[in-house]
Formats: sequence, structure tokens, C-alpha cells
Amino acid sequence: METKLVDLLDKLNREHSLELEEYQFLLENINPDLMNLAAEYARKYQNQYYGNKVYIRGLVEFTNYCRNNCYYCGIRRGNNNCERYRLKADDIIACADEGYKLGFRTVVLQGGEDFTYSDEDICNIIKGIKASHNDMVITLSIGERERDSYQKYFDAGARRFLLRHETANPELYAKLHPKELSFEHRMKCLHDLKDIGYQVGAGFMVQSPGQTPKDIAMDLKFIEEFKPDMCGIGPFISHKETPFAKEASGTLEMTLFLISLLRMIYPQMLIPATTALGTIDPRGREKGIQAGANVVMPNLSPTSVRKMYTLYDNKICTGEEAAECINCLKNRIASVGYEIVTDVGNRAGFID
Ligand code: 5AD
Ligand code: FES
Repeated sequence: METKLVDLLDKLNREHSLELEEYQFLLENINPDLMNLAAEYARKYQNQYYGNKVYIRGLVEFTNYCRNNCYYCGIRRGNNNCERYRLKADDIIACADEGYKLGFRTVVLQGGEDFTYSDEDICNIIKGIKASHNDMVITLSIGERERDSYQKYFDAGARRFLLRHETANPELYAKLHPKELSFEHRMKCLHDLKDIGYQVGAGFMVQSPGQTPKDIAMDLKFIEEFKPDMCGIGPFISHKETPFAKEASGTLEMTLFLISLLRMIYPQMLIPATTALGTIDPRGREKGIQAGANVVMPNLSPTSVRKMYTLYDNKICTGEEAAECINCLKNRIASVGYEIVTDVGNRAGFID
């Protein structure tokens, strides 16, 4: 392998930082040896901070209504072929209850940007879950809202928030989203969330339409600087009812390589092996763990609504009951020598 590539990984291992051009050079020269070397470094850190433990989060996709019209997403408001659903507060709380019984100590409430749920509704759901399971950590993934709303949810008991930045390049952001969405507001939300005291998850799609290696290098610089507690990445996968229907999907290789680089950039960071990764390759999530990821997020949503939460085509795990999904995942994770644990799963070094 070219010594420059080896030297760059060595530098990243020592300094946890590279210049934008250096990241770009690595990405432009991705090859199996380079991926293996990065994965070795990544596993060293994964083992140092998390051993062979993999954290598990229960995902409740509670609404697929969305006010936004992102060009890549299957539940965009412009998709008239999407059957819409909304779970009632009691049903959402029941999903969390079931999750608790199955061993989850953290639940992610995810949905489109659906303002039918007022701040009060969201707070009541949070309080409802906390009332019966005070040891459960609640994560929200409900998109952009104003700072005072985020503060209310925090005060009601939510402690984590997932909001992918999607891309750190404002120009690419404008190509993936309609004009009414702004890169600046997205960034403001992320900073507000961190400031309020949430553990924050950022993230981006890998090889979204028009994304260049330089754009991805910008994402890596952003993660270096913003230091989110979690970074979720998955390949872009086209959805037939979107403007990007004909665009090529991201690759397994690039996603795995980026997982390893992210682990090297911020060794303590939580990195999920995402459903999108499991969708482009039957063993994608296992491979993600071997590349340095340490979190999986199986679905706890009622099976009756699973198929409706389709952000991209061919999404996996839409038919199985929650318990089946977890068993399947346990076996998969065990098959590569790791172990799923019942734990709230804070970032290593996180102080409450
Ligand atoms: N392919 C892959 N990921 C997608 N997301 C949305 N649409 C797609 C797609 N077509 C991701 C976005 C969003 C997260 C919930 O899912 O990054 O933040
Ligand atoms: Fe859901 Fe295997 S993880 S069916």
C-alpha cells in the first residue's frame, strides 16, 4: 500500500485529526488494505472503551407524517403514495413498556416533523414513560424545533437527541433539501441541543446524490470539531417515490471505511451500525460492528405500522416482532464475537 496512505492513518491514530485535504486523499484512495488497517485501529479503540459490548436502543417510529420535503426521503410530504400513520401517546408508551420488558434501558422516539404533536404532547409522552421506568433513558429524534421546545422536552426528562446534520457542506445541503430548509437552522438546532445538555447524535448519509469525497471530508472535519456524543451514518439508498429515485445508492465499503475513520477521530463516540447498512448488505450491521461501530437500534414499533416508515426502498426488519428482531440481532452480533448488553449505553466518559 502507498506509504502516504499508511502515514495518514498513523497520523490520524496519533492526533485524531487530519487536514481536510488529507481526509479527502484517504477517501479518494479507498482500497481493501486501507479499510483493513483503519478497521484494526478502530477495533483497538472500540475495545479500549467498550470491550466487546454492543449497546442496544429500542426505536419507536411513532409518526410518518412529515412537514418536510427532503429530496431523498420516502416519507417526504410530497409522496402521495405513502400511507400515513400516527401512534397515540398510550401506544407509544406501551411500546416503551414492551421494550423495557425485553431489556431495553433506552428508547428512541423517532418521527417525521409532525407538529400535530404539540410540545405538551411530547412532554406527556416522556413523562408517561419515565413514570413507570425512571431508569429508562429517552432519546428524541423528531427533527427541528425551536430552542424553548427542546428545553421543555429536556425538563420533562428527555436526555438525548438525534438530529443528523445530513451534510456539513451548505451547498450540498441546498441540493438535498428544498429552499425552506436551511443549513444554518439545522446547525443552530444542534448547538442548542448540546447547550441545553442533551447527549447529541449528529450524522450524515454516505454517497448521497452529488456528494463528493471533499464533502465527506467536510463531514469528518465537522465531527472532529463539534464532537457529538453519537454519529450515525448509513449509505444513501434511493426510494422510488422521491426525486432521487434513479440515483445510485451508497456503498458498503465506503460506509465501513467511514465508521472506522469516525472511531479513530473520536474514539469514545457512540457509532451505530444502522438499518440502512443492514439493508445494502445482508451482514452489513455485523460488518459495521467489526469496522468499529458499537450500537444497534432494533425496531420496537408495532408491526402494523412498520412498513409505512419507509425512508428508502427494501428496508429490513419490517415484518418481525420486536422480540424476534432482538433475538436475530443478538445472534448476529454474537456471530462476530460481540455481545449485546442491557445498559443505558452512555458515551464512554459521559458525565451525567
Ligand atoms: N437513504 C438513506 N438514509 C436516509 N435517511 C432519510 N432518507 C434516506 C435514504 N433515502 C436518513 C436521514 C435521516 C435519517 C432519519 O434517515 O439521514 O436523518
Ligand atoms: Fe430485525 Fe434481524 S434484526 S429481523
